[in-house]
Amino acid sequence: MSKSVLVSVAWPYANGPRHIGHVAGFGVPSDVFARYQRMSGADVLMISGTDEHGTPLLVQADKEGVTVKELADRYNRQIVEDLAGLGLSYDLFTRTTTRNHYAVVQELFRGLHDNGYMIKETTMGAVSPTTGRTLPDRYIEGTCPICQADGARGDQCDNCGNQLDPADLINPVSKINGETPEFRETEHFLLDLPSLAEALGQWLRGRESWRPNVLKFSLNLLDDLRPRAMSRDIDWGIPIPVEGWQDNNAKKLYVWFDAVVGYLSASIEWAWRSGEPEAWRKFWNDPETSSYYFMGKDNITFHSQIWPAELLGYAGQGAKGGETGELGVLNLPTEVVSSEFLTMSGSKFSSSKGVVIYVKDFLKEFGPDPLRYFIAVAGPENNDTDFTWDEFVRRVNNELANGWGNLVNRTVSMAHKNFGEIPAPGALNDSDRKILDLAAAAFDTVGANLEESKFKAAIGEVMHIVGEANAYIAEQEPWKLAKDETQRERLATVLWTALQVVSDCNVMLTPFIPHTSQKVHETLGREGIWAATPKVVEVTDNMPVEPVGVGVPEPGQTYPVIMGDYKAQQAVWKRIDIVAGTTLAKPAPLIAKLEPELGETGPEWAPVQK
Ligand code: MF3
Ligand code: ZN
Repeated sequence: MSKSVLVSVAWPYANGPRHIGHVAGFGVPSDVFARYQRMSGADVLMISGTDEHGTPLLVQADKEGVTVKELADRYNRQIVEDLAGLGLSYDLFTRTTTRNHYAVVQELFRGLHDNGYMIKETTMGAVSPTTGRTLPDRYIEGTCPICQADGARGDQCDNCGNQLDPADLINPVSKINGETPEFRETEHFLLDLPSLAEALGQWLRGRESWRPNVLKFSLNLLDDLRPRAMSRDIDWGIPIPVEGWQDNNAKKLYVWFDAVVGYLSASIEWAWRSGEPEAWRKFWNDPETSSYYFMGKDNITFHSQIWPAELLGYAGQGAKGGETGELGVLNLPTEVVSSEFLTMSGSKFSSSKGVVIYVKDFLKEFGPDPLRYFIAVAGPENNDTDFTWDEFVRRVNNELANGWGNLVNRTVSMAHKNFGEIPAPGALNDSDRKILDLAAAAFDTVGANLEESKFKAAIGEVMHIVGEANAYIAEQEPWKLAKDETQRERLATVLWTALQVVSDCNVMLTPFIPHTSQKVHETLGREGIWAATPKVVEVTDNMPVEPVGVGVPEPGQTYPVIMGDYKAQQAVWKRIDIVAGTTLAKPAPLIAKLEPELGETGPEWAPVQK
């Protein structure tokens, strides 16, 4: 039986178009991972969607002078297009404003509440003295009461990683207008993290394979666990499914309580839309399934603490015990793969000035694979990384075009010109065998790196083989052999060898640059879909679910989702023997070279800062 792998990708806020930093950290890496897993035979479910509640949306809607619903619809659609355009192979990319998501979030809340892990408390909420409106946590800044760092937010201190309450901040001020907030009593539901601490600790201590920094950070969080508010004084969000609360439009669930549940609700929606409503259970209830979560480093707390706590409490596995709800015992994350940040200081990057490197513009000018390649080799995998046009141009021209494009092009051109097909080889010599063995062995080493989300190491290894293959051709000089009738068999052997290595490298490059790999597949005289691309489909919000409370979305709305038939693709992670006699056409150029000046100036829409 094939193994099941859940690939959970962080949900972008639908409060603006995505810039390349948003897709560099986890968008492209998670897709590389999912594509690799599918190729090696795993049954993959890759899900995500837009995160549409909470203050980030409210604040932006105010700025743009539209309703928050209009804002969410607009950017949900834009983000769907961006991500599909990049070829991110989601089985379902949905949104948090579906009736199904509301219903699943409410089920999780009810389970936690029934088991005693949601406690009602009167807390101090921040209010603007001038407007009387509630001030969202993340719009309050002050000094961290734990590590004394300045610029801690009301919800979290980025310096020490601790979760905070705005009322704890030293010298709190509103980021909106600089005033000092007033604190008033307000009732909220708090997730009882202390009663889940032991279960969390036990689970975390079993996560030996996690990157040490993530594990240490997560374990540290356990030292200072306090109950954490899971409701907010806000009118945009999911109603709290409790008598006396659900019809109060001024209180909703905290956006982070609902967003992380998206992984589960999207899985359930995917199953229903694929006509097998129970198919999600294999990915959530079967302990043999591995689940990988991809996100930026600022999201670790929510994935290594809040989400696991919600899951443990729902299953009644905390100190207060309890029952398991109808969704069953749900798997906790197997891996939390977090990335660092991509900065864009060289291109006048500032949302306020309106100059940003948007995915949309990037795709329009360069297509998806140059960006995918760049992110894989030079993305923020282990360090914050600065994007520069100079490096982009250099990598695309030297590595992708001159390295890979050239290898494919000259190999296929020569075979086409001299034989019109893949030639049959004669006896292999040591050089031939050496390069063939090198390529064959790479499937394991590259695969092992991908298995551990070491994307840079993985693609570095493939590009090393590409370099070796180019060196092999330079050494064998097939263009000289072609001029000598007596060397025809040797020419056939060299080209056959090179074509096999091209095919191998193409297989291994597929997760990284699937669109290019499809082209190479065809260039090698093969047919059909090698690497599938995702599709944008318009669907109707009509699942048979019953979310409760005021402000629940009406049934019947339509929205775009990303889906795809990845089972129909041929891509597999292993050597595919090339077949002598396969007709070859004259190859078209594979990778367009970029103008060198682009490295100095940047494009018009994101010029280099002088
Ligand atoms: N919207 C959040 C952000 O951009 C990420 C949410 S990830 C989630 O920081 F899936 F957990 F929701
Ligand atoms: Zn701190």
